[in-house]
Amino acid sequence: MIFKIPHVLTKQQIKQGLKILETAKWIDGSVTAGKQSALTKKNLQLPEESEAARQVGDMILTALANTPLFISAALPNKIFPPLFNYYAKGDKFGEHVDNAVRYVPGLPVKIRTDLSMTLFFSEPEEYDGGELIIQDTYGEHKVKLNAGDMIIYPATSLHKVTPITRGQRLSSFFWLQSMVANDEQRRILFDMDTALQNLRKNNKDSDPNIIKLTGVYHNLLRQWVET
Ligand code: NI
Repeated sequence: MIFKIPHVLTKQQIKQGLKILETAKWIDGSVTAGKQSALTKKNLQLPEESEAARQVGDMILTALANTPLFISAALPNKIFPPLFNYYAKGDKFGEHVDNAVRYVPGLPVKIRTDLSMTLFFSEPEEYDGGELIIQDTYGEHKVKLNAGDMIIYPATSLHKVTPITRGQRLSSFFWLQSMVANDEQRRILFDMDTALQNLRKNNKDSDPNIIKLTGVYHNLLRQWVET
C-alpha cells in the first residue's frame, strides 16, 4: 500500500535541517544506484558517511519513532539511515526498482528493503516537475508533498522522479525492513489496528469484544512477524 504520513517534521525542523544540508558537501547521485539505474539517475546526493546526513537523519528517525501512524502502517524492524538527494533544473531519475538488500555503511547489518520512504524538504511551489511517480497494480500515483510530509510505498514498485523544469527539490529517501514482509498482511494488520483504535475511542477498554479483537490482532501478528 502507498501511504502518506503528514507532518513527520515541523516547518521549524525542516528549516533547521535545510540549514545543515545546504552547507554540506554533495556528490554525484549515481553512487547508491544499481548499475542499471545509475544510467538514468541525474541528481546530487550526500555521501552515506556524511555528518550532515547523520544529524538530519537522526532528527527524522526520532520524529518517526514518535509517529504512531508510521509504526502502525510500517511495523518497522530495521530502518536504513536516511539519505538525501537534491535535484536541480534538468535533473531526474528514470524508472527503476530499488535494490532488494542494503548494507548499512560501517556496520555488519543488512536490511531487506520492504518499504521505501521519501520525506520532502522542499515545498511543492518551489519547483516544477520533480514528481515522484509510483506504479502499482492500480496504475500510476503522482506524489508531490508539502515539506515535512512523507510517502511510504512498497519497495517492489517501479518508480521514477520526473525532470525538474524550474527550481530545486531536496528530499530524504531511505528504506526499512518491516517485521511483516508481506504487503497484504501488513495492510490487514493496519486496517485492524486503525479500526480497534477507533473502537477504543467510543467504548470502554474493558469491552470484551475489544479485548477479543485486540487478541486477534496480536495472534495474527505472531503468525506473520519476523524479529
Ligand atoms: Ni528508487
